[in-house]
Amino acid sequence: METKIISVVGEKGGIGKTTLNIILASNLFYGKNKNVVLLDADNPQYSIYNKRQRELESLDEEERQSMELYPIEPVTVTNLQDAIMKHYGIVDYIILDLPGSLNVEMVKGLLYVEHVFIPFDHDELEIDSTSHFYFTLKNNFLDKEERVLKSIHLFFNKYKLVKKNKFAMLRQQFLEANIPMMDSVVKDKTIYKERYRNTLYPIPDNKEMGEKDIKHFFQEITQLTQ
Ligand SMILES: Nc1ncnc2c1ncn2[C@@H]1O[C@H](COP(=O)(O)OP(=O)(O)OP(=O)(O)O)[C@@H](O)[C@H]1O
Ligand SMILES: [Mg+2]
Repeated sequence: METKIISVVGEKGGIGKTTLNIILASNLFYGKNKNVVLLDADNPQYSIYNKRQRELESLDEEERQSMELYPIEPVTVTNLQDAIMKHYGIVDYIILDLPGSLNVEMVKGLLYVEHVFIPFDHDELEIDSTSHFYFTLKNNFLDKEERVLKSIHLFFNKYKLVKKNKFAMLRQQFLEANIPMMDSVVKDKTIYKERYRNTLYPIPDNKEMGEKDIKHFFQEITQLTQ
């Protein structure tokens, strides 16, 4: 089995990395029948790992027993490689959630990621730091001969339709700077941080199918990582 190692990652805190790594993992696993492992490298909070424990505790014993789950494992810099090797070749996707700063976890973690997805919102002050992060990754990880990293993509998270012109202008700016932007966006929606950010359930079949809805984002990620 060809395993893809992917991560929604970025230098900016609070931009939606963890939320989207969870939604992505749950929907690839429960919605698209992919084998998934989610590695939580956000040491020492381990918020995803702890969230899974809380979600399981909210079920009764019978539900818990009958539930099919994808593994969520807390990892550190020291055991990250072992954790990856344990699943590599066995699952379809290893998804890595990294902390929001360029610390040792992040740099070490990035050495293993094959496809990077960088979320970005419309705050123009962040353009510089996001393009700086993109070019740092490109120069240090993508353009090396012995590279693991195969692709980097930016996308808008917390996209607001009312600001669509502003987002369109930003997209243009990134494209002119030769920074690859995903076509799909992730809208700013309360339901993403509440119901749909869940490690036990996918988004229901009949929801989020519209042109700017999150299922397009999953689809594009599946295509880009083929
Ligand atoms: N598309 C979205 N719509 C609405 N809220 C969102 C969306 N994406 C993220 N959020 C919210 O933004 C906040 C930050 O998200 P999250 O914790 O996923 O970011 P992060 O990049 O992982 O942060 P950190 O750098 O601290 O790890 C959370 O409250 C989350 O629910
Ligand atoms: Mg996070």
